[in-house]
Amino acid sequence: MSVLGKDFLWGGAIAANQVEGGYDTAGKGLSLVDLLPAGEARKAPLFNPAKGLNNSFDFYPSHQSIDFYHRYEEDIKLFAEMGFKALRFSISWPRIFPHGDETEPNEKGLAFYDKVFDTLEKYGIEPIVTINHFDTPYYLAEIYGGWYNRKTVDFFLNYATVLFNRYSHRVKYWITHNEINMILHIPYIGGGLIIQENDNKNQIMYQAAHHQLIASSLATKIAKEIDETNQIGCMLAAGDVYPNTSHPDDVMAALSKNREQYIFIDVQSRGEYPSYSKRMFEDLGVFIEKQTGDDEILKTYTVDYISFSYYSSRLESGNKEINKNKEAGNAFASLKNPHLEASNWGWQIDPVGLRVTMNQIYDRYQKPLFIVENGLGEIDKVEEDGSIHDTYRIKYLSEHLNQMIEAVKDGVPLLGYTSWGCIDLVSAVSGEMKKRYGYIYVDRDNKGHGSLNRLRKDSFYWYQRVIQSNGDNLSY
Ligand code: BG6
Repeated sequence: MSVLGKDFLWGGAIAANQVEGGYDTAGKGLSLVDLLPAGEARKAPLFNPAKGLNNSFDFYPSHQSIDFYHRYEEDIKLFAEMGFKALRFSISWPRIFPHGDETEPNEKGLAFYDKVFDTLEKYGIEPIVTINHFDTPYYLAEIYGGWYNRKTVDFFLNYATVLFNRYSHRVKYWITHNEINMILHIPYIGGGLIIQENDNKNQIMYQAAHHQLIASSLATKIAKEIDETNQIGCMLAAGDVYPNTSHPDDVMAALSKNREQYIFIDVQSRGEYPSYSKRMFEDLGVFIEKQTGDDEILKTYTVDYISFSYYSSRLESGNKEINKNKEAGNAFASLKNPHLEASNWGWQIDPVGLRVTMNQIYDRYQKPLFIVENGLGEIDKVEEDGSIHDTYRIKYLSEHLNQMIEAVKDGVPLLGYTSWGCIDLVSAVSGEMKKRYGYIYVDRDNKGHGSLNRLRKDSFYWYQRVIQSNGDNLSY
């Protein structure tokens, strides 16, 4: 008898801005990432005081990406072959509203997603739709200041309403914003924020975050009015922060760091800014400007479930000097945990941290959880016969799934598991192709060379067995 219920949603996750390509096809406007290069140059500030907006590079990885725009049928067929019950994908906002501030949607953009939904339906795969996955139209960023501008709330609601009206009969689980807390770490792709040197960064980021929170609540209201069966989720870039030592200062520092992520979900799930936010904002010199009725909106329209990504735990010290030794892992920086190994990109690997994180989140909110991202970005080697022996990925996933099941045994209700980048895609933070997460290999390199052919990795067959056994067989 499986620990997981028979309706457990096994699958994978992708995002429009990292797979589609077709960046200017059929009326699509520019996505935020369409102006970003790959590799080191991606880290350079987008705004250079001497030159203004930095937008001329030799190569933009998102322009073609893995060409899901033209190959979605082949890709979905491969997902079906693995036995996917669900696919988490996002709709590209600028494909539907090229600039973001139009009143009428781009019908050609919607027609593309109609076909994606048709194909998923053909294979019995349930769509889990992210409305905004790092994909605010670039025009809104440049002309309006992105989510810092309250008008973006209305533009988002206009867009979300179009999606709810058109697809509510096909989608049950919606996610409003991908990794809402990422606005603090990658404010450009998280919130369309082009922050300049002398700006009050915290003020801009938290005010923009408030607008995203309001937009999420109001989208929940609209979704329920259109179809009361719609289920709306928030999405957190999760990963518990551990204290560096048992020193009380480290414990306090870890608590504060955790609050930096939970503040968003406290609002979205409990319906109000938590009591600790008052001091936190004072210390940061942040003042959230609210409109009349905002508190009531947040209180009334909370989320139905909590989705999150988990790649690793983090480590924090109460000592500023020690914290200077933090290394990058995802967009988060963390101290090195001596008990953990790390990937080639320095992301620490902590399967037990997934169980800890799931328990923490559920203890805090008591709403169903959904793991909508987890996985290992690594370099894969294609053998002469086309096989790819990604045992490191299988090990990572198997150990995480094992801990996920432990958390379910602990009593955490879990709707499903969609691993990140089920097909190789362009990395969000580094823009590389070399950093691969997929069960399916895509022949394309960091410079955009390659046939774009798809190949099944060893993990493809392993995941097929996992799904087939409903998680009972994680062996490798
Ligand atoms: C999450 C994002 O932060 O992590 C994804 O939701 C992203 O969009 C994923 O791709 C992995 O990060 P990266 O930088 O390795 O692509």
